[in-house]
Amino acid sequence: MSFDAFFKIHDGMRREAPGDEASTLTALARLGPLPPGPRVLDLGCGPGGHTLELARALPDANIVAVDLHAPFIERLAREVAEQGLATRVHSRVADFGALDEAEGTIDLIWSEGAIYHLGFGTGLRRWRPLLRAGGAMAITELTWLGPAQTRPAEAREFWAAAYPAMTTSAANCAAAEAAGLRVLETFTLPERAWAAYYEPLAARVEALRGEAEHDPALATAIADTMAEIDLWRRCGAHYGYVFYLLRA
Ligand SMILES: C[S@@+](CC[C@H](N)C(=O)[O-])C[C@H]1O[C@@H](n2cnc3c(N)ncnc32)[C@H](O)[C@@H]1O
Repeated sequence: MSFDAFFKIHDGMRREAPGDEASTLTALARLGPLPPGPRVLDLGCGPGGHTLELARALPDANIVAVDLHAPFIERLAREVAEQGLATRVHSRVADFGALDEAEGTIDLIWSEGAIYHLGFGTGLRRWRPLLRAGGAMAITELTWLGPAQTRPAEAREFWAAAYPAMTTSAANCAAAEAAGLRVLETFTLPERAWAAYYEPLAARVEALRGEAEHDPALATAIADTMAEIDLWRRCGAHYGYVFYLLRA
């Protein structure tokens, strides 16, 4: 998918992956207590929907939000300033595979729908040393649900091409433990968290269909986006975003 066409479709989206405020707040509550004035890293924050939700839910936290895509960081910085949060929410363009935070200094690492860029196990191994002893991680990851033999062929084929490393919750929990993390709990994001992402995306697609008649790259991006949404409508019971709640 062309970069330009992708961002034309995604322009203005509040979130860039399945997720919603209720799920973010549930994950936060289930992680258990954080120390006063916690230092939080939000990795692959995108446009920062969940960053702002975390900032409101943790009024004494100091949050650093990181993303590679500068326009997301610029938008988040604007909203942080508008909401009077600039003294404690900072955003920067950086590669979350090569962070320069000191080891053992972070109380909470948050990442929704982004660790797949490194791979789940690789991401956890890379981020784990940044946590203080007892520090927490809350990570969402696209995960196969249910037994392998029940997966529809079209879902297997689609994800074998789009995300071949996608695996089960059991395998991801084993990867977390191998990275030196304790699994507190996992939960699967509800259908409404997918709708919160796909409904505005489908609306963007409809708004751009006319323009796509004269723009082949946009037409391809629209077809790819709708293929993903339509697959979820047919086969979404077989995969989901799982929140992994972990402690060092
Ligand atoms: C699917 S989006 C999810 C964004 C956001 N967490 C959300 O749920 O709305 C994944 C994000 O990861 C960012 N990303 C990908 N690779 C990255 C890297 N190496 N370092 C920092 N951010 C990265 C992308 O720019 C994108 O914003």
